[in-house]
Formats: sequence, structure tokens, C-alpha cells
Amino acid sequence: MLQHHDRPPLTDAAYTLLRDLILQRTGMVFDQGKRDLLADKLSELVASLGLTSFLDYYYLLRYDDAAEEHWARLMDRLSVPETYFWRQAEQFEALADIVAPAHFARKQGALRIWSAACCTGEEAISIAMALDRVGLLEGRGVQIRASDGSEAMVDRARAATYGERSFRQMPVGWRERYFDQAPDGRWRPLERIRDHIQYSVANLVRPEEVLPLAAADVIFCRNVFIYFSDDAIRSVVETFARAMPRGAHLFLGASESLTRLGVDFDLQEMGKGFVYVRSANAGLATATNRVTT
Ligand SMILES: C[S@@+](CC[C@H](N)C(=O)[O-])C[C@H]1O[C@@H](n2cnc3c(N)ncnc32)[C@H](O)[C@@H]1O
Repeated sequence: MLQHHDRPPLTDAAYTLLRDLILQRTGMVFDQGKRDLLADKLSELVASLGLTSFLDYYYLLRYDDAAEEHWARLMDRLSVPETYFWRQAEQFEALADIVAPAHFARKQGALRIWSAACCTGEEAISIAMALDRVGLLEGRGVQIRASDGSEAMVDRARAATYGERSFRQMPVGWRERYFDQAPDGRWRPLERIRDHIQYSVANLVRPEEVLPLAAADVIFCRNVFIYFSDDAIRSVVETFARAMPRGAHLFLGASESLTRLGVDFDLQEMGKGFVYVRSANAGLATATNRVTT
């Protein structure tokens, strides 16, 4: 990492422009308290591009012919790769013990599940293991999609090799049951688990990338809204609501809440946890442009 004295200063003007542009393109808030963090995260990108100021980097992101490529690298840099298997276990248990059986009792169709900020993939693998534990993974048409805004994270999720830290909450015996150990000591989920998951890159603030994936019965969108502004969360959740069928379930992270945002979801207690359910009258105002599911 560059030392503070080696990097150009993040001037007030450059900070404001970059903060607003990043908020608009990623949903992430870097308020005054995170200004130094933002400078740290951007400084290596700025240096590696041979730029001498953050303002030049702003112009690059806005106007350069290769701006999309620069955004992709920036998403990788802003990503916080903190996740592990069986995180908030009660939600995987609610999926396997309540949501999935109810779905199959009601409908013949596939159960579509989306891990919307999948990071390195532990969440999607946990979903597959949870359904396998109750015998619902095979033969019932379970479709698991996993996406992240960072290409680097999606590449790591696809590669699916995990070290000790990812297993810190895993129930005893599950690693041996669902993973093979590679010669380098890392663990890889069994092929029949991996084969249920389709990976892609999708930025949550881009409706055209979200709508096809959000046409799902269950969305796990956990520990990403903690970095977003309220407006960004509301807009993402409204996009979800346009595509999710009525009664579909949305799981958020433990410290995340929609209750103050006035969106079309009802909070319900389920098993030992909570879930947001797309309410029956959701999206009436946008019924004409809702994606039919
Ligand atoms: C802390 S991880 C959460 C991983 C997992 N959902 C969990 O709860 O353990 C946050 C992830 O959100 C992703 N992310 C941040 N902004 C995003 C956006 N605008 N669109 C899609 N993913 C985003 C990051 O790349 C990162 O992988």
C-alpha cells in the first residue's frame, strides 16, 4: 500500500466529485468519515495508471474510452471480501425447512434463488448445502444464481477453493461431507453442489442487470446494503419488487433493515430469523412495467 506521504492529496473538489460519482454508479457511500478510506482504496489505482491527481482519475472514470474497464477495476478495489459459510445460519435453515417445502407443496415449478452480492461464493454454496441436507436440492428444479458487482469476486466464486477462514461457522462434519481437499490444503465443494450454481457479474444499481436475476422466489442480498445510501437501497429494492413474484422472500444481513424506507415488503419472523416478503399489493403504481413472472 502507498504511504500517505507518497500519494497525491485528495482535494475537497476531487473528493466531492468522486464520492458523488461512486455513489451514483455503485450505491456505496463514502461520507466525510470514510474520506481517508476512499483515498487509500483509490491511491493504488491512481498510481498504477500513472496519474498524478485524483481529479485526473475522476475524468478518466467519466470520459475515457476505457471508462468501463476502469470501473470494473474500481469495483474490485471497493469490494469488501468478507464472507464465510453458514453466516446467519438461521436464514439457510428457514430456506430449507420452511420456504422451500412450502414452495414445492404449492407449485410444480422450479425454486429460483439468487445470491445477489455473492462475494467469493460461500453464501450460494451454503444455500445448496442447506437444500441438500433436507433432500430438496436434486430432482426438484432448484436454480441458484450468484452474482456480484466485482468481476474479481465472481472469478473467485467460480474457482471455488476455500481456506480455513471460510469454515469458521460451518457445522461439524459438513466440510468432510460436502468438500474435497486439494493437495495445497484448500477445500473445494463437490461438483454436484457447484453444478447447481450459475455465476455472473451484476451491479445492483443497474436495473437492466438486476431485473433478469430478481425474477426469483428467494433473494439473499446480505451485508451489501450496509455500504449503500438509503436512496440507493430503496431504488435497488424497488427494482427487486418489480421482478419478484408476490410472496417471494428477501433475506438481508443482520444489521440491515428496510422498515424505515417505505418499500413494498413485509417483515416476517421465520424460524429463528427474519425475512422480508414481497407484499401482495407491491408495485401497483408500476404494474404496467413490472416484469411478468
Ligand atoms: C461483505 S460482502 C457480502 C457477502 C455475502 N453476501 C455475505 O453476506 O456474507 C459485500 C459484497 O457486495 C459487493 N458489492 C458492493 N457493491 C455492489 C454493487 N453495487 N453491486 C453488486 N455487488 C456489490 C462487493 O463486491 C462484495 O463482494
